[in-house]
Amino acid sequence: MKIQKITCIGAGYVGGPTMAVIADRCPHIQVTVVDANAERIEAWNTDHLPVYEPGLDAVVKRARGRNLHFSTNIDEAIASADCIFISVNTPTKTEGEGAGKACDLRFIESCSRQIARAAENHTIIVEKSTLPVRTAEKILEVLATAGREKSFDVLSNPEFLAEGTAVKDLENPDRVLIGGQNEAAIQALVEVYLNWVPKERILTTNVWSAEMSKLAANAFLAQRVSSINSLSAFCEATGADVDEVARAVGMDTRIGSKFLKAGLGFGGSCFKKDVLNLVYLCEHYGLPEVATYWQQVLEMNEWQKKRVAQKVIQNLGGTVQGKRIAVLGFAFKKDTNDTREAPAIALCEHLLAAGANVVVHDPKVSFVKIQADLKHSPFMAKNLHSAESAEQACQGASAAVLATEWDSFRHLDWKAMATKMSAGAWIFDARNCTDHRSLKATGLKLWAVGK
Ligand SMILES: NC(=O)c1ccc[n+]([C@@H]2O[C@H](COP(=O)([O-])OP(=O)(O)OC[C@H]3O[C@@H](n4cnc5c(N)ncnc54)[C@H](O)[C@@H]3O)[C@@H](O)[C@H]2O)c1
Repeated sequence: MKIQKITCIGAGYVGGPTMAVIADRCPHIQVTVVDANAERIEAWNTDHLPVYEPGLDAVVKRARGRNLHFSTNIDEAIASADCIFISVNTPTKTEGEGAGKACDLRFIESCSRQIARAAENHTIIVEKSTLPVRTAEKILEVLATAGREKSFDVLSNPEFLAEGTAVKDLENPDRVLIGGQNEAAIQALVEVYLNWVPKERILTTNVWSAEMSKLAANAFLAQRVSSINSLSAFCEATGADVDEVARAVGMDTRIGSKFLKAGLGFGGSCFKKDVLNLVYLCEHYGLPEVATYWQQVLEMNEWQKKRVAQKVIQNLGGTVQGKRIAVLGFAFKKDTNDTREAPAIALCEHLLAAGANVVVHDPKVSFVKIQADLKHSPFMAKNLHSAESAEQACQGASAAVLATEWDSFRHLDWKAMATKMSAGAWIFDARNCTDHRSLKATGLKLWAVGK
């Protein structure tokens, strides 16, 4: 088995960048990315890519038209591929059995049906999406409906990239994980990665371990964020400084320093849905204590978001009714335009519900997107506004909340800002991402998470 033609179904935050890097690093492999969303495919074929990631433009430019193609002709791309990556979305179910927790596999199922119909000869199917343990079994059941002249191997190759550093993570991954049953199929996929990933970083396991490892990795990462956020409240109550505590704790090599930054709570499309899915699976397998343990990670996250919004209201004299509040940053983290589960959404919802005039500025998120994310908020149409810059957002504001740690916010000129804001204005640094000393010197009032 040798992989020469790859098709990826799903041109989103994972499918697009992952395939771009594979095509860039493997010029001898033809890579086609397909999606049911024609608008998205069209954008991938322009200079305005639908996904913002540092360095992605250059990678796409090098490979597109040579061995990287974006298309809506899904059947044709399936038929011609010897390896198909499934990289579609796997959101939380909103109805039926397991609603609110279990993973919605409808897109995986429809892809599998389409593959069963359109594939020719032998095809390696790669689960790139994050999936519940034992999904490969379900995919194989669907593929079994294909004619006898077709055959398949199903591998699990979960993606560990982080948005904001996707290209770097894909070009230099900590590890590549490939789970499967058929040694020859595993080896064929290993050969693809060996074009740029050192052999010792390619890990092969059984398929269930690979599926489980992705859920476990996200659960551990989310747990670290909730752990440090829980301590941020404790620091505020006691006079300890959460950044100093994180530094001291993180220097212990058994613990490590990464993912110990207190903030507004984690966001992004994955942590919440994957931990919810883990909770659901643990309940399903009769492990309620394990489920409760992980559920708490999510509850701490919700609490942190609410807590920060309440701090804003309390510090502004217990009411924000009619007050202008600048929200600086809306993306769930810096260096991405992704707002899925962004903690800024919950923050804005709280502030709008309390009657504030909310003015949002984000360097990469459009106001149309912000409005769509807040469409269920009361007073949204009347009280939600956007600003072209942080300075413009803060003009006349009673407060500004730093909700995303964009680098540009690190260098804000607080002296100039103070002259534009209302007298006695507050800055709420929910990310500890700005220079507190220079900010305080201007006379602005400061609340910072975990300080
Ligand atoms: N976003 C991340 O940082 C990240 C990281 C690691 C893993 N993952 C996982 O990767 C998967 C994809 O995530 P994403 O963020 O790229 O999602 P996304 O929503 O950005 O992209 C998914 C794409 O799949 C397309 N799609 C859905 N069903 C289809 C079908 N039947 N045929 C053709 N196209 C179809 C959608 O139109 C969409 O464009 C998820 O399982 C996610 O959990 C995401």
